[in-house]
Amino acid sequence: MHSIRVHLLPTLTTPDDLSGRTVVVIDVLRATTTIAHALAAGARQVIACAELDAARELARSFPKGQVLLGGERDGLPPEGFDLGNSPADYTSEKVGGKTIVFTTTNGTQAMLRCDRAQRVYLGAFVNLSAICGALADCDNVDLLCAGTNGQITREDVLFAGAVVEKLIGDDSARPIKLNDSARLAQDSWRALGPMSADPRLLTEALLQSHGGRNVSALGLQDDLATAAQIDRFDILPVLEVATMQITAS
Ligand code: MLT
Repeated sequence: MHSIRVHLLPTLTTPDDLSGRTVVVIDVLRATTTIAHALAAGARQVIACAELDAARELARSFPKGQVLLGGERDGLPPEGFDLGNSPADYTSEKVGGKTIVFTTTNGTQAMLRCDRAQRVYLGAFVNLSAICGALADCDNVDLLCAGTNGQITREDVLFAGAVVEKLIGDDSARPIKLNDSARLAQDSWRALGPMSADPRLLTEALLQSHGGRNVSALGLQDDLATAAQIDRFDILPVLEVATMQITAS
């Protein structure tokens, strides 16, 4: 591996800048965590949509019983949606074998930024090692944090830092070029200490983040503990940018 770049917000990079690159989109609270849950629970695919109306229209084009609408606006399920953005709601009973048409405020917007990337994966703590395994053979890696409503969010930066730490640790014999945001993310992660030993500490760190406070204010604190379960799944969500289809690899 030659280089890792972290982008702390989608607006701090451009589709051109990401052109031909391998990108990991990060929205720990909660879009990329929830998508990992959906695929691990046996959803056939997740299709990311930017707008509510486009999502509703796309869902109508599927035969009844084969599709569910999922996602959020202001953290809650939009009108007429089958599922919100709480990862634990995506159980095999509900989503097994189904297509999920999915739209969220920040996560799906970050995915749209990658329309010229060569490969796009979706990362969260629940699939940290699967993401790092997929990146190990890449020359250049971009980690794209979704942020929250245009603001940098600690939870995404922490995850980016965890990836940087793991990749560098796995490749310590070779120097890897990091941009300053990658160094900042790595510093943030290192400052927390050995989180993986105690998911309660990571849950607490997630609570002290912009996204965490939003989720908590809605009474959905359980989502933070769910998002803090490092390596719960050995699953690699891959986004096909031409169609916005996400499937498990
Ligand atoms: C998003 O994509 O905007 C987030 O996942 C928001 C949320 O926590 O529901």
